[in-house]
Amino acid sequence: MTKWLQEYNDSKKGTPASVKKYLLFYVLCIIVFVLNAWLRASWSPVAFIFTNSNHTTQIQPNVTVLLWYWPFNQVEDLHGDVCWDLYRIPRCRVVAERSSFSEADVVVFHNRELVTGKEKLPLELPRPPGQRWAWLSLESPANNGDLRRFAGVFNLTVSYRRDADVSTPYGKLLPRASEEPVNDIPQNKTDLVCWVVSNYRRSYRRSKVYQKLSTVVPVKVYGRWTNTPLKPKDLLPTISRCYFYLAFENSISKDYITEKLWRNAYQSGAVPVVLGPPVQDYEAVAAPHSFIHVDKFPSAKVLGKYLQKLAGDAERYGKYQRWRREWKAKSYEGWRWVLCQICVQYHSFPRHKVYADLAAWDGTATT
Ligand SMILES: *[C@@H]1O[C@H](CO)[C@@H](O)[C@H](O)[C@H]1NC(C)=O
Ligand SMILES: *[C@@H]1O[C@H](CO)[C@@H](O)[C@H](O)[C@H]1NC(C)=O
Ligand SMILES: *[C@@H]1O[C@H](CO)[C@@H](O)[C@H](O)[C@H]1NC(C)=O
Ligand SMILES: *[C@@H]1O[C@H](CO)[C@@H](O)[C@H](O)[C@H]1NC(C)=O
Repeated sequence: MTKWLQEYNDSKKGTPASVKKYLLFYVLCIIVFVLNAWLRASWSPVAFIFTNSNHTTQIQPNVTVLLWYWPFNQVEDLHGDVCWDLYRIPRCRVVAERSSFSEADVVVFHNRELVTGKEKLPLELPRPPGQRWAWLSLESPANNGDLRRFAGVFNLTVSYRRDADVSTPYGKLLPRASEEPVNDIPQNKTDLVCWVVSNYRRSYRRSKVYQKLSTVVPVKVYGRWTNTPLKPKDLLPTISRCYFYLAFENSISKDYITEKLWRNAYQSGAVPVVLGPPVQDYEAVAAPHSFIHVDKFPSAKVLGKYLQKLAGDAERYGKYQRWRREWKAKSYEGWRWVLCQICVQYHSFPRHKVYADLAAWDGTATT
């Protein structure tokens, strides 16, 4: 009998500790080998298996978004993995170096600099196959200039509009976690209606409504127009002392609802009186029973009377504040957030799309 067989027979009798150790070692080796092979097979640069708490999902590699120049020269810091670090958006590389052109999946052009001629489209560069050019504007059509020259250039739109390829509204509602405290609505209100306006033009619809409204109820006006500008830090505390805030947009167009609602009114605790796109556009994005739309009143006079009555009726006024128990408002977070949103939508972009008539898509606005 060989020594090995002897040991084997012995092991059958009592399984000595040394054999148990060997077995454990072999099993471990096999597990490590199999794991290693599986990881090598799946961890390719093209696609790898990403396991999250939900289930195993097929995930694409990084998307590279190149910003051709900063909108309005408002440069933001792009160091590190910004989309992940700031917004927990994975695999999104946002760069502003033009040398990255050939590797960019999306190249972003902000409209203002193009229409003023400050920047030009790099039409002379060969577009890598599959690269998409994105048109970015958060302005209303009235301020976008003549877009006819951009026919057939862009593949994507990035705008506040809900029907843009990448929709980046000026604000949104987030559900409030039940344990989160509701900021107390300042009870200490001293002014009935407040308005902040820097760019006053008689021809604007909002100016006409203001003129009529101010003959019925007192309207406290701040801003450059009246030479009473508010420092940014004073804006919300000042508005918080008003029952109502005139969130009047400077141009009336589809989905154009700006920080006048999302920040000035919602975050101050004043109830917004809105003038802008139709009621349905507000209802689609704003909190239920949180705003008063000018169009619902036959005249500014009737509106004024309604506001006066409401301010004197704590219960009815309180109903316009009730949404705050369930929701909180978030307002625009800067260009980096806009750029990172492109990655969120990237995998649902149509395979092929060209804006043959960007001007028609943008439409026209009235003031
Ligand atoms: C799990 O993944 C599916 C599809 O990717 C998604 O619709 C769902 O919301 C996810 N659930 C959780 C809890 O993350
Ligand atoms: C993806 O991007 C992140 C952040 O920029 C980077 O750290 C990572 O190496 C990239 N991965 C690949 C496969 O390119
Ligand atoms: C109420 O308003 C007055 C005048 O604006 C201010 O001085 C005071 O601090 C406010 N009180 C509270 C509790 O907000
Ligand atoms: C993007 O637009 C260009 C120019 O019209 C076009 O040639 C290209 O095929 C489009 N790419 C995609 C992915 O839609």
